[in-house]
Amino acid sequence: MISIIIPTYNERDNLEELVSRIDRALAGLDYEIVIVDDNSPDGTADLARELSSKYPIKVKVRPGKMGLSSAVVEGLELAEGDVVAVMDADLQHPPELLPELYRKVMEGCDIAIASRYVKGGSVAGWGIVRRVISKGSILLAWILLPKVRGIRDPSSGYFMFRRSVVEGVVGELDPRGFKILLEVLVKGKYSRVCEVPYTFGLRRRGTSKLGGGVILSYLLHVLELSPPFVRFAIVGAVGTVVNLAVLWMLRYGFSVMHEIASAVAIEVSLLSNFLLNDVWTFRRRRRSGFIQSVLRYHAANLAGILTQYGTSVSLHRFLGVESLMSQFVGILIGFLVNYALSKSMVWW
Ligand code: GDD
Ligand code: MN
Repeated sequence: MISIIIPTYNERDNLEELVSRIDRALAGLDYEIVIVDDNSPDGTADLARELSSKYPIKVKVRPGKMGLSSAVVEGLELAEGDVVAVMDADLQHPPELLPELYRKVMEGCDIAIASRYVKGGSVAGWGIVRRVISKGSILLAWILLPKVRGIRDPSSGYFMFRRSVVEGVVGELDPRGFKILLEVLVKGKYSRVCEVPYTFGLRRRGTSKLGGGVILSYLLHVLELSPPFVRFAIVGAVGTVVNLAVLWMLRYGFSVMHEIASAVAIEVSLLSNFLLNDVWTFRRRRRSGFIQSVLRYHAANLAGILTQYGTSVSLHRFLGVESLMSQFVGILIGFLVNYALSKSMVWW
């Protein structure tokens, strides 16, 4: 059976057409529709219940607007099909594509994505700004999330997958996560992802619910999903700025000699890196207590620290390279040895 999960918020005007088009598209196949409504003021849930006498519909009503992803996660808990689809209620996702997505899954795709960005796909009525933001957000996902690289439309809201993809990880899917497909792609178990082109149509009735703050929530979501190596690199970049800022201040603000300024700058950035990696990169999964972990972090980084300090001081003292530049080159060379050692000595 196919379960089609549809989150709704004020979609009363779209529901009847949506359901009848799904029914027509899936004629002859066993399916159920799982509507997760957030107590829409326009009475979407009442209409959904009414329609459930004519169509195979389950309705889950939640007390208030709790967000698109969390609605999908709740829908997953109710869905009984061994194949699951997620789509919007506003007909921007054409139900006529469902058989094609299903065919792909039957052919062996674990996840079949309705894609705006493969050949033949498109978006209707978007200006240049929205297009750039959409593409830029996908590029960001490719940079920060190795698992989604190569997938043209990882932020699609329309996709179908084998239930086994999320078996055992439904509890791990972040209901605050902004894009539920990213959650599935990063946390799910699958080997083949396919994309089917479609045109993301214009919303004909009602209004979009995804408004302000969208870009920031997306950024936070992608950072949250990024693997430790990526987060470690981001912390390293922040540490570089801290390191150079401290060095600059000591050298040019307080005229401290390079040998001392360099050492202090290194230590300050080391401590700030430790804290960031602890709370964020490795989520406090320490092998030992706090103080001991700080010491272990120094030990793990020792080779890097000494390389960095040695490079910085030699460049400045023996080759006359400017302070900040010497320090920066030292940082780059020292960084190379850090990741592997830190991870194996301090965190799980
Ligand atoms: N239950 C519930 N709770 N449903 C919600 C909520 C909520 O808080 N917010 C939105 N929805 C429902 C809407 O009723 C609609 O069915 C669907 O989620 C998508 O909301 P839209 O407001 O139409 O989003 P959009 O068109 O801007 O963006 C959609 O399409 C993009 C491209 O595929 C979303 O699916 C995006 O995630 C997607 O990237
Ligand atoms: Mn929409």
